[in-house]
Amino acid sequence: MSAVRQARIRALAKINLALHVLGRRPDGYHELRTIYQTISLADSLEFEYRPSRSTRIEVDCEPPIPDNLVVRAAEAVMEAAHIRGSVGIRLRKCIPAGAGLGGGSSDAAAVLLTLPVLAGRTLSLQELSGLAAQLGSDVPFFLLGGTALGVGRGEEVYPLPDLGRLYCVVVVPELKISTAEAYRSLREKLTPERRPFIIRDFQSAAWAAAMGAPPGDKGSSVGNDFEVLVFERFPELKSLKKRIERLHPVRVGLTGSGSGLFGLFRSRAEWEEASEQFGRVCRVFTERLVSRAEYWSWWRRWLAPHIGDRQSWPPRSRYAQ
Ligand code: C5P
Repeated sequence: MSAVRQARIRALAKINLALHVLGRRPDGYHELRTIYQTISLADSLEFEYRPSRSTRIEVDCEPPIPDNLVVRAAEAVMEAAHIRGSVGIRLRKCIPAGAGLGGGSSDAAAVLLTLPVLAGRTLSLQELSGLAAQLGSDVPFFLLGGTALGVGRGEEVYPLPDLGRLYCVVVVPELKISTAEAYRSLREKLTPERRPFIIRDFQSAAWAAAMGAPPGDKGSSVGNDFEVLVFERFPELKSLKKRIERLHPVRVGLTGSGSGLFGLFRSRAEWEEASEQFGRVCRVFTERLVSRAEYWSWWRRWLAPHIGDRQSWPPRSRYAQ
């Protein structure tokens, strides 16, 4: 009987430091300009893989999620990499759903990175990105991590340099926002005349980020296009943003289409004050930004018993022929 291969990994959340929507595309999605950032908030996944002739995928998720993206990711990567065997995944959710933090997408990317390593298969970053984009628009970002530019429907990602050590408070009120619904409502408000201005402002924010400055810093007009709409519908979110602003963050904003808000702080003291203030009214997560170098090094550590060298990205299986 073949030995079971196991790995325990963490799937990190993201925030959108900037998010602008240019318009609807012929495929029904929206053309975006965004800046993604991984943060230390994470789900936990435990994998067990045993080679066998028939394939079985079992996911135990706490709390349970119908139509879990993790199952679809496992099926997709096993088919693409010709993996056969028995797969067990225990998923413990910590990243709130419907908050714009990319929890489901990160879990899916974690499956794409882990299963080929456990099964002794090699897929290139390009092949993994193709599978990731089919699973969701922000899944490819989690194959990269750190700070990254996202264009297209968000699936086309380009690395940006680290923003340095910044503390991050994420405040999540008790309401979930459906991404598809948020895009539908925003669509009615998009005006083609604004497009060149969005592109220009975003371009300068991207340049600033390329120099290591947090986008939205010092009077820049980049932000999140969903804010107007979401704040109109949920005024309590607007007041929450104002309350975070009073603590003088480097940047504050909605992440994705909400409902999560984040504040970035330079000092630990400000960050602690923010978490104390909001802990009484909402779920608060006191986290920090995670750079790409850290993300990759954590991944190499989680998969250490199963990888051959500590340089390759994506991690390369030591069982691969
Ligand atoms: O790609 P993903 O499955 O995460 O997207 C969820 C929904 O959000 C899509 O079905 C679509 O309605 C909307 N969306 C969009 N344009 C994007 C990303 C998402 O319209 N760029």
